[in-house]
Amino acid sequence: MNIEIAKEKILENGFLNLELDPSLDLFVEIEKLKKEKNAIILAHFYQEPDIQDIADYIGDSLGLAQKAQSTNADMIVFAGVHFMAETAKILNPSKKVLLPDLNAGCSLADSAPKDLFKAFKEKHSDHLVISYINCSADIKALSDIICTSSNAEAIINSIPLDQPIIFAPDRNLGAWLNKKTGRNMLLWNGACMVHEIFSLEKITKLKIRHPEAQVLAHPECEDAILRISDFVGSTTQILKYAVSSSCNTFIVATETGILHQMQKDAPNKTFIPAPPTNNCACNDCPHMKLNTLEKLYLCMKYELPEILMDENLRIASKKPIDRMLDISRAAGLIG
Ligand code: 13P
Ligand code: SF4
Repeated sequence: MNIEIAKEKILENGFLNLELDPSLDLFVEIEKLKKEKNAIILAHFYQEPDIQDIADYIGDSLGLAQKAQSTNADMIVFAGVHFMAETAKILNPSKKVLLPDLNAGCSLADSAPKDLFKAFKEKHSDHLVISYINCSADIKALSDIICTSSNAEAIINSIPLDQPIIFAPDRNLGAWLNKKTGRNMLLWNGACMVHEIFSLEKITKLKIRHPEAQVLAHPECEDAILRISDFVGSTTQILKYAVSSSCNTFIVATETGILHQMQKDAPNKTFIPAPPTNNCACNDCPHMKLNTLEKLYLCMKYELPEILMDENLRIASKKPIDRMLDISRAAGLIG
């Protein structure tokens, strides 16, 4: 296909919707493209199993940001959502950063529009702004430090106690951090559409049916879920806990993609996805699941869609990410 037609398709749909020969072995083809183009595939744990299996690195948001910073590849193919690929581009202006489907957004990032957040910040001008990495580059540029769920506590604890803080955009993670750190951070009222709909009632019933099970939860969950959880952490932290724990059965209150890696790393253990309040048995992120193996292959082949950024915005949004990576390194959270 002509590259101009490919670009038109991206403008129309946000991804390349081309018919593929069904006999094509996408695993083989993607491996070939990786070598040919010196590309690295970075995938989040919420991606579909096939994508996790072909990825060069799978991790939580902190691990992915660090990997994006340290890679020698010429091309970063980001199997995740837009803010993650954008973070990779912020850290790597000279590399080509691809996202298989530009529509892969994030409800949490969308809950903080730039203008409203700017006005909120101006109203509390004595506050330092700590933003969760799940936000747009515009919000990052308005922030002093970025954090992820695995380093947020260390980052907040590095700030003097008398310094007032705004925490954005996730009110659930913010409330959990207020409890953990004894702070009274001012919270932006955003939430993740996946983590805010776990059902306390259904999880309680599951716990009665599986009294031996421990509940593992992501801190983006609501307080009622976190209160009944045995362990709260980022995706990587939950995975590590499940593998090393002496417990054999877990109810997992985060996006179901993580269960693939849990089952691979601890094949003899039982992982039960925590049910949401709707009629589904498990909880998928509709944004994360927009990426497919077909789209991944096409985006590597045509090198589209690509993440492009305004240079001033990139420089402004890089500062608080660098600060996060420096504090995380000093705290021994990354290498
Ligand atoms: P972590 O993998 O950093 O825990 O983040 C979870 C998440 O919601 C990513 O969108
Ligand atoms: Fe955003 Fe929630 Fe999906 Fe993560 S799981 S990408 S926070 S909507």
